Amino acid sequence: MGKFNIAVLPGDGIGPEVVNEAIGVLNTVGSKFNHEFILKEGAIGGCAIDTFGEPLPAKTLDLCKSCDAVLLGAVGGYKWDNLPGDKRPEAGLLGIRAGLGLYANLRPAVIYSALKDASPLRSDIVKDGIDIMVVRELTGGMYFGEKGRVDAGDMGQAAYDTEKYTTFEVERIARLAFEAAMKRKKRLTSVDKANVLESSRLWREVVVKVAKDYPEVELNHMYVDNAAMQLVRNPMQFDVIVTSNMFGDILSDEASMITGSIGMLPSASLGQGSLGLYEPIHGSAPDIAGQDKANPIATILSVGMMLKYSFGLEEESNAIERAVENVLNSGFRTADIASQDSKVVGTKEMGKLIKEEIEKI
Ligand code: NAD
Ligand code: IPM
Ligand code: MN
Repeated sequence: MGKFNIAVLPGDGIGPEVVNEAIGVLNTVGSKFNHEFILKEGAIGGCAIDTFGEPLPAKTLDLCKSCDAVLLGAVGGYKWDNLPGDKRPEAGLLGIRAGLGLYANLRPAVIYSALKDASPLRSDIVKDGIDIMVVRELTGGMYFGEKGRVDAGDMGQAAYDTEKYTTFEVERIARLAFEAAMKRKKRLTSVDKANVLESSRLWREVVVKVAKDYPEVELNHMYVDNAAMQLVRNPMQFDVIVTSNMFGDILSDEASMITGSIGMLPSASLGQGSLGLYEPIHGSAPDIAGQDKANPIATILSVGMMLKYSFGLEEESNAIERAVENVLNSGFRTADIASQDSKVVGTKEMGKLIKEEIEKI
């Protein structure tokens, strides 16, 4: 029996709805496999701005540091869209990633066989399955580079955001990606824009150097525009993709859709230590918030990643994945992944079905 402390940060919009279902799944796993999950709730994002006046209160960061893992929903919403950059809900998310030193964001894009009809790609493209691990650098690049506004005279204002990477930053994410590839099909695609950007030229140099330590991994380089195209032309060519913060953000949303919906993709953010943060890749979806429509599977699978990566509970993690698969095989779908013959259910019902399935396993 294990005992684990988990900081739970539901956030805004559909965040609390999907986190609620993920917690239900966690508790079901706890009683079935005899583990104690101690949940401690904290505020982040817009709700933290409303209550504490800032998107990442110090006590939320302290809470996370005192726990074994963090489960996060999503942040943001129309209400806070006109605040200055550093006061927005999203600044809370960037703050927690940087504050916990979580430089590696793993976003697995896997197509469940029952969902091949939900993919917008032709069946001959997805028929043999899609299984891509996007390794996104998470604490550097344009997100954290120097930014600002200056007077540009007759031209009005100028605004800038700087894309900057150090050798150290590229080396550690590249190493992590090569390690991930070693445990998979041993193929790594490094995505950059080295034909234009100096930061990408350094990125490529460093990746090539790190590759010498992983002779078994087949490495190729791809420009980001081509990678965006190749993802829909032939997604099966990819095993592990490693890329910068900004490119990884964009390509993982694209990769999610080819598996059926952004509501399917979980993520794990990892750093030097054992503390990890787990969240769906989607946002707070204000357009469907409060309507019991959100797909909770991305967040439920994020709990699955937590069990595996932070707690070493492989069997429990597999049970979650299997339960999701069984529920999808039975034809149940939330609206985002529904097709003609689906039994369409809401957020809560989907959570309940997955919990029942775990109990049966
Ligand atoms: P979004 O991911 O919230 O939504 C994009 C579209 O996908 C919407 O139509 C939404 O309804 C749909 N969608 C997203 N998750 C879904 C789910 N689980 N089930 C069904 N449909 C789902 O992206 P956006 O609209 O660009 O951003 C909305 C807000 O969320 C913004 O404030 C943005 O900054 C924030 N955001 C936060 C995170 C995060 O907290 N990690 C990630 C992305 C965006
Ligand atoms: C994500 C989101 C965030 C990002 C935003 C909300 C800061 O889009 O987690 O993918 O760009 O990293
Ligand atoms: Mn994103």
